[in-house]
Amino acid sequence: MAMRALPIALGALALAGLLATAGSAGGTAGAVQYDASGKMLFPADYRTWIFLTSGHGMSYNPAASAGHEPAFDNVFVDPASYRSFLATGTWPDGTALALEARHGTSHGSINKAGAYQSGEPIGFEVHVKDKARFGGDGWAFFGFGRDHAASTMTPKDASCYACHAANGAVDHTFVQFYPTLLPIARAKGTLIPAYLAQEAAEGE
Ligand code: HEC
Repeated sequence: MAMRALPIALGALALAGLLATAGSAGGTAGAVQYDASGKMLFPADYRTWIFLTSGHGMSYNPAASAGHEPAFDNVFVDPASYRSFLATGTWPDGTALALEARHGTSHGSINKAGAYQSGEPIGFEVHVKDKARFGGDGWAFFGFGRDHAASTMTPKDASCYACHAANGAVDHTFVQFYPTLLPIARAKGTLIPAYLAQEAAEGE
């Protein structure tokens, strides 16, 4: 009996730990965690999130540097928010999207054409929606270096916010480039008017 009770007791301890941090500056909101000063902790499990797309040499990419082949970027979203998007066509509070960039390489092993991703990430950023924490529309960006040190929020006047708000097809995110999500957003009617107008203009 004592053995069987143990996992339950451990579960209760873990829950108590979560409750202790909730409501303070630190703690959990959705898929990511913050320290007591409000810095975001590196989401070490992001590679278990849902894969949305790979961009190749997309030109806005700040990590693509001269002297290298075009970089790849990979976009992931936390699984609970992905499931919510499938049902609603938009993002719930607590959503976290991650973008990592890696070098593109064409010469290696047996490869003769095209390019593949190689090496450690050369850039890593998180886009998170948390209205209680950030106010307004709830979206905020965080960038991480190779040391994965806790990150201070990217200031609201950074170019990130304006480009995502104006050009992201659904709620500040680039769903037009996430091929499994675009048809859902279309069916649910959640594409922003500016994107629909641009699409219509391109079709003419
Ligand atoms: C000129 C427009 C533009 C600017 C400026 C910009 N981005 Fe993006 N961002 C994009 C596009 C386009 C994508 C889609 C990438 C893909 O499809 O591979 C994207 C995707 C992302 C994603 C993945 C999730 C999402 O929101 O769709 C993150 C995270 C992100 N950007 C962070 C940033 C950060 C941090 C900055 C500022 C330092 C920034 N971006 C500035 C255009 C921009």
